[in-house]
Amino acid sequence: MSGEKPPVEICKGVNGLDKVVLREVRGSSAEVYLYGGHVTSWRNDHGEELLFLSTKAIFKPPKAIRGGIPICFPQFGSHGNLDQHGFARNRFWSIDATPPPFPTVSTNKAFTDLIFKPSEEDLKIWPHSYEFRLRITLGPGGDLMLTSRIRNIDTKPFSFTFAYHTYLSVSDISEVRIEGLETLDYLDNLKAKERFTEQGDAITFETEVDKIYLGTPTKIAIIDHEKKRTFVLRKDGLPDAGTLCVFWLVCYWASLQKKLNLFIQFYCIFFSVVWNPWEKAKSIADLGDDEYKHMLCVEPAAVEKAITLKPGEEWKGRLELSAVPSSYRSGQLDPQRVLQG
Ligand code: BG6
Repeated sequence: MSGEKPPVEICKGVNGLDKVVLREVRGSSAEVYLYGGHVTSWRNDHGEELLFLSTKAIFKPPKAIRGGIPICFPQFGSHGNLDQHGFARNRFWSIDATPPPFPTVSTNKAFTDLIFKPSEEDLKIWPHSYEFRLRITLGPGGDLMLTSRIRNIDTKPFSFTFAYHTYLSVSDISEVRIEGLETLDYLDNLKAKERFTEQGDAITFETEVDKIYLGTPTKIAIIDHEKKRTFVLRKDGLPDAGTLCVFWLVCYWASLQKKLNLFIQFYCIFFSVVWNPWEKAKSIADLGDDEYKHMLCVEPAAVEKAITLKPGEEWKGRLELSAVPSSYRSGQLDPQRVLQG
């Protein structure tokens, strides 16, 4: 046998915390900490890091890791009585050895299934029983996919908000633009959540930004001119109408077969939060003063309208990230094609 590394390896990370390393044959990789169910690294086949991770990140409970992809659940931001962004990001998750199957079978080998269930202590602060399953997959082209499945195993309905708080690594925030959000309405967190409308231009950055865009499209492109790289962020993976119809029929059939009141809910993640703290980075203890220049958070989220699950129901929310080379100067980059392709 050659010294080839396995597609999935469980090992120790910073401060002895357990992490899962995913490797794809062409060389891309990802790292996931069980603390927070938190993706901290995503590298392309050249070994370049694509996610931002703060040099001051604290890998120690109760602080969430600054960077990567924190999971915000059961509350996004301060939209409720819990601590900011809920508690899933600072709890220990487990490897899920027997996850329920997905409707489509994947041939990917580089994936891991995690599960988070509330402890007695968690139930005191948020008294609802659920199983939160998270599958993290590295696709053959190096794409990173996160699928969350949250099931109500309680006797009463509950509601929650959610986000994939994705920190992208960028060369220089002033050289970055987002395509796909122009003309949308947004709530400005810096102006008491007042509602505004973007005026038709791609989003660029020259100061602090903290906005919740409403009704965002399935695909958003984040273009880094200096790195000549475009991130494409697809959220939800909501099937087209035909596939959805078949899916519902299968669910209905499954529910009849098992005589169970089983309904699986497929919700769109409707909102995208865009955040860069700019100079405020100085007041964030686990972020370097100038590190805001190299990060951009684009966070697919379900915020304004909470998701409600009845007993037995399941919500599924998916994020797919890819990074493609782009050469703006040579004219190869056509954002419209990236968004529509
Ligand atoms: C963003 C919010 O999602 O997260 C911001 O919109 C917030 O308001 C930021 O400041 C960081 O939050 P935290 O809790 O990780 O420092």
